[in-house]
Amino acid sequence: MTTRRRWLAAATTAALAPLLGSAASGAAKADRKTPAGSDTRPPGALPRRASVRPPRIRPGDTIGLMIPSSANWDPMDIDVLVDALASLGLKSKLGKHVYDRRGYMAGRDEDRAADFNAMVRDPEVRAIHCIRGGWGAARLLPLIDFEREETIAAAAEALSREAPFDLIINAAGLLHSHRFMPEKRFSDLNYAQMLETFRVNAFGPALIFRHFWKLIGDDRAVIAFLSAKVGSIADNRLGGWYSYRASKAALNMFIKTASIEIKRTKPNAVLAALHPGTVTSRLSKPFRGAEIGRAPNDAAADMLDVIDSLTPPSTGQFYSYSGERLPW
Ligand SMILES: NC(=O)c1ccc[n+]([C@@H]2O[C@H](COP(=O)([O-])OP(=O)(O)OC[C@H]3O[C@@H](n4cnc5c(N)ncnc54)[C@H](OP(=O)(O)O)[C@@H]3O)[C@@H](O)[C@H]2O)c1
Repeated sequence: MTTRRRWLAAATTAALAPLLGSAASGAAKADRKTPAGSDTRPPGALPRRASVRPPRIRPGDTIGLMIPSSANWDPMDIDVLVDALASLGLKSKLGKHVYDRRGYMAGRDEDRAADFNAMVRDPEVRAIHCIRGGWGAARLLPLIDFEREETIAAAAEALSREAPFDLIINAAGLLHSHRFMPEKRFSDLNYAQMLETFRVNAFGPALIFRHFWKLIGDDRAVIAFLSAKVGSIADNRLGGWYSYRASKAALNMFIKTASIEIKRTKPNAVLAALHPGTVTSRLSKPFRGAEIGRAPNDAAADMLDVIDSLTPPSTGQFYSYSGERLPW
């Protein structure tokens, strides 16, 4: 056991050493700069390579240790890692759930994501080290917290190694919560509900686009956002559901505007707003969704058919699950 422990410590030290700044010389390595005038990407895009080459870790820094996927079965491995980091002058901060177990995963998806999100937010944590990897990490993606832009940026960064993608779908959306139901009349309007609804339906998806657009390639690629027909201003005949309607209309405008801008750098990109129809889900449940909605699998299959049919000239439009073009 001692030999294994020593071997692990040495291996961890060797793996982390190149990441450390030159403590002896105290020299700071300058960030690589993009030559002036050569950056043709949309305004507001992350500076080129800035997210790929974060600032160097230096002795005294704190490293967050968490497990996004399968469990680490030998708790001693974590002690060894902490020792190895300490030998490099680094402090460790363990995620609350690193010792959790659920099947072969290191605890519930929500808890692993909570560890990750807590570390992204923690100003003391200078880098996050995933004690173990695995496909379970991908299960955390839907657990992006739209309240925190850093979690969206970090998810895009984590996926950048798998890029380019030819399909990105944002399905998050909010109609009601344990705090509110959709407004029936304007006397129901209040800031808290409007802000929360806009954050999930419009601002979060817009930031998803801001951080994920760079992950698509130069060939045909689709970025689709689940919108809702009730977000169509032209089609609004019944009124009500103010925040939901307005936030989906705002989402539609984000999509349209971004589709115009992205054409300049990615002419084969297709951005689309999709209406899934009424689907049996948590969202539709209080509105007889179980009786009148279609099965999620059918809705998803229909929308994938629509996505398959889209070509670059179809960008910046609003489509129903049936393939019909909807009015803005
Ligand atoms: N169902 C329908 O009849 C219907 C009709 C028209 C349009 N739509 C649209 O279709 C999309 C999918 O709806 P659905 O029926 O699948 O609804 P759902 O079952 O309520 O799922 C909504 C999804 O949004 C995520 N979400 C909510 N708040 C979030 C936040 N703050 N940060 C990150 N993610 C958050 C939820 O994550 P958690 O599970 O972690 O909470 C969940 O994955 C939505 O955009 C909705 O507006 C649905």
